[in-house]
Amino acid sequence: MIPIEVSSLRKCYGSLKAVDDISFQVNKGEVFGLLGPNGAGKTTTIEILEGLRQRDGGNVKVLGFDPWKNGYELHKKIGVIPQDFNFIEKITPREAIIYYADLFNIKVNPDDILKEVLLEESAKVNFDSLSGGQKQKTGLALSLVSSPELLFLDEPTTGLDPNARRAIWEVIRGLKAKGNTIILTTHYLDEAQQLSDRVAIMDHGHIVAMGTTDEIIAQYGSGERLEIRGPEQLAQYIKSNTELQVDYDKLRGIVSIPLKKQIDALAALAAAEQSKTDWGDIQTRRDSLDDVFVKLVSGKVGEQGEILDETKQGEAT
Ligand SMILES: Nc1ncnc2c1ncn2[C@@H]1O[C@H](COP(=O)(O)OP(=O)(O)OP(=O)(O)O)[C@@H](O)[C@H]1O
Ligand SMILES: [Mg+2]
Repeated sequence: MIPIEVSSLRKCYGSLKAVDDISFQVNKGEVFGLLGPNGAGKTTTIEILEGLRQRDGGNVKVLGFDPWKNGYELHKKIGVIPQDFNFIEKITPREAIIYYADLFNIKVNPDDILKEVLLEESAKVNFDSLSGGQKQKTGLALSLVSSPELLFLDEPTTGLDPNARRAIWEVIRGLKAKGNTIILTTHYLDEAQQLSDRVAIMDHGHIVAMGTTDEIIAQYGSGERLEIRGPEQLAQYIKSNTELQVDYDKLRGIVSIPLKKQIDALAALAAAEQSKTDWGDIQTRRDSLDDVFVKLVSGKVGEQGEILDETKQGEAT
C-alpha cells in the first residue's frame, strides 16, 4: 500500500486558495520534504493528511484511510509533531510519555523512547525548563509512543542551534532506517537536502517542483558559471571585449559568466587580466537548491524550467 496518495487536493479559507489543486504520493520508507515560503500551504496540507482539517476537494488516502472520515483509526497509526509544539509546563518528558501511553491505552517503556530520541539526560526536567531542542525532542518522543509507521513532522528543527538540529536529524535518520515513512516540512534547505529522498516545493498553494533535490537542481538550475569578484567596470570590460554573456550582481560585487564551453572561462579571465581592475576570488559554481528555490518561489521559472522575463512572471503562478 502506498502510505500517502493525494490527488487534486484543494482547501480555501474564504477567498484564499491555501491549497490549490495539488497531487503527490509518498512511498513506503521514504522521507518526503515539503518546502515552501511562509503561507505556501504546507501546514494546511499536513493537517488535512492528519485528519485535523477538512478538505474542500480532491482525494486523499493516508494508510488506506480517508483521514477526515476515518480519523480515529488513522490516529492510532500515525505520529505527529505540530508546528510550534508545546506541552504542559510542569511535566517532564518521561511523565509526558507515560501520560500519552495511558491516553492511547498502550504499554511502552518510556526509557526506550527517551533513548531513541537522545533525551535520556533531560528525562526528569520539567517541560518549561527544557531547551528548545529538548522540547522538540519531547515532541518527537510523544509522536513515537504509538509506534507509528507514518510520521508528520512540521518544522521539527525551527529555531534550534546547529547542534540541536543535527541531533534531531540523527533521530529522523534512525526512524527512517527502521522503515518509517516521514513527511517533513522545513525552511532549512540543507536539512531537506540531507534528509529527504524527494521534496515538493510549494508556493501559493501550488506544487511548483517535485523530485529528488538533484533532479530539481538539474531541471531548474542554471549550468556552470564563472564568478569573479570585482567592480562593475570589470563586467563592462569583459562584455565589451569578448562574445560572452556577462551579468553583474551589485549587492555581492560579483561578475557572473555562464559557461557554454569550459574554454569560455579562459577568455573571461584573459579579459579580466587586461581590464586593469582589481579582481579576484575566482570560482565556478552551479545553482544550489537555495538558488533554485528562490527562483521558483519568486516566479522566475516557468513550468518547463525556462527563465521567465518580468512580463511573463504573472503567468507562471
Ligand atoms: N485557519 C485559517 N483561517 C484562515 N486562513 C488560514 C488559516 N490557516 C492558514 N491560513 C492561511 O492559509 C495560508 C497557508 O497557511 P499554512 O499555515 O498552510 O502555510 P505554511 O506553508 O505552513 O506556512 P509557514 O511556513 O509559515 O508555516 C496562509 O496564507 C495562511 O494565512
Ligand atoms: Mg506551517
